[in-house]
Amino acid sequence: MKSRHKRLLAIGFIAVSLIATTLAAFVSANQSPEPLTGNWVVRTPTTNNDGTLRTTYLNLKQDGQKITGTIRVTQFYYKISESTGGPDGFTITGSMMDGKTERKVQYEGKLAGDQLQISTRRRPTDPPTQMVAVRAPAGEGAMPARNPLPALHKVADNGLARTPPMGWNSWNKFAGRVDDATVRSIADAMATNGMKEAGYQYINIDDTWEAGRDAQGNIQTNKKFPDMKALADYVHSKGLKLGIYSSPGPNTCAGYEGSYGHEEQDARTYANWGIDYLKYDWCGARNLYTDEEMPAVYQIMGDALLKQKRPIVYSLCQYGRLDVWKWGADVGGNLWRTTGDIRDAWDSMTRIGFNQNDLAPYAKPGHWNDPDMLEIGNGAMTNDEYRTHMSLWAILAAPLLAGNDLRSMSPEILAILTNKDVIAVNQDKLGKQGQRVWQTGEQEIWTRSLSGGDVAVAVFNRGKDEAKITVKTADLKITGKWKARDLWTHQDVNWPADGDYSVTVPSHGVVMLKLSR
Ligand code: GLA
Repeated sequence: MKSRHKRLLAIGFIAVSLIATTLAAFVSANQSPEPLTGNWVVRTPTTNNDGTLRTTYLNLKQDGQKITGTIRVTQFYYKISESTGGPDGFTITGSMMDGKTERKVQYEGKLAGDQLQISTRRRPTDPPTQMVAVRAPAGEGAMPARNPLPALHKVADNGLARTPPMGWNSWNKFAGRVDDATVRSIADAMATNGMKEAGYQYINIDDTWEAGRDAQGNIQTNKKFPDMKALADYVHSKGLKLGIYSSPGPNTCAGYEGSYGHEEQDARTYANWGIDYLKYDWCGARNLYTDEEMPAVYQIMGDALLKQKRPIVYSLCQYGRLDVWKWGADVGGNLWRTTGDIRDAWDSMTRIGFNQNDLAPYAKPGHWNDPDMLEIGNGAMTNDEYRTHMSLWAILAAPLLAGNDLRSMSPEILAILTNKDVIAVNQDKLGKQGQRVWQTGEQEIWTRSLSGGDVAVAVFNRGKDEAKITVKTADLKITGKWKARDLWTHQDVNWPADGDYSVTVPSHGVVMLKLSR
């Protein structure tokens, strides 16, 4: 009797708890979450008319009057740090997730049926951009997981870029407007205007050529580049080479598809297309990796390029972080950016160019410091200033990548870009980067040792008035008799044996000489 009673009690208990759990599950499944909670997406076409889309994800969790979660604006990931209001009207502020960048975004919005009406301003003074967000599956647009990084090893030298690469890059002038027709006509111009003859060779497509990936993960070109292989064939038919751009991150700087997780596949695609040069830009990788991890991240593509049958110049672009000049060559880099982006402005160009002095020991044949592409001919500097730009980049053994519209430049600009005497300094076989030997205020003298014992001397006047500058042979650490040639007037000049040489230099201008025994 006793045991039967016990059994009945147990059965009753189990039944009651089963009902209770089922009920609880039912209630929780039907308890509607607070209405803003969920993953919301806005898709808008890029302004580049290339068929690709920008995506903004608002992954929200509403808890009464508090909204938390994340915001992703294509390549930028933010954590919601402040919020006010609720479904009838809210404001959310996101702070960049890398914890380093000071950048913030702010959205205002309200729920309208099953959509979110939102607006944001690029700058506080801009008018708001209105958008409609719809629900997206949970997890869509989330930051991808970190892929494991390889152990470091020394990537073999690919044997390329024995002198600094020379060519053209689309970014400075065309940014998102570069397309197939532009690249072809730029190649036509370079092949016929004397630039090819002067040594220019690479036609480099920068960011915004990319679309998404096909089902096999192969990178696709967008509407602006209908057939990359045909384009490479065309550029090759002009006796020139074609370069391309990508990022080790999921997205590029302009928000296009990056090579993350597809490094080898992309290297193979580039080789199949006939690509000769890759600029690999950190940007989107910063969300996943720290600066200290840059060498391993860059090594992945260094290895992948080396595996291809086609020689491909490897250009690192991570703005000179983590002293890239100390490890860029070890991960297979032929050149590495040493600074942030250049602008077509005297301040920007000189701040970058005159700051490269300490990096001289790291440049050598096959491996160059890259103070960024040329702005010569883009219109916001004078020709004296552009001559300073060209002379300084020559002394620095910097890559000479023209960044202007080669189809429509003035004869003066073409003459600056194709000055063979100055180019010969840039391309000197010794590959020794020059340095500052004298400075007083805004006047500087830089020299570069050239093969055969020759010396290039550049006398810069950064001041706003013309100046008479005296070159003391003691500062150049030379004595005796030298032949001297002015590389801009192409005239021989009298070099005083063991004396000082005085010369008048225009404001923001340069006098550049080559001394030989
Ligand atoms: C970065 C690079 C630039 C250019 C753009 C393209 O800013 O430093 O040289 O490649 O990205 O988005």
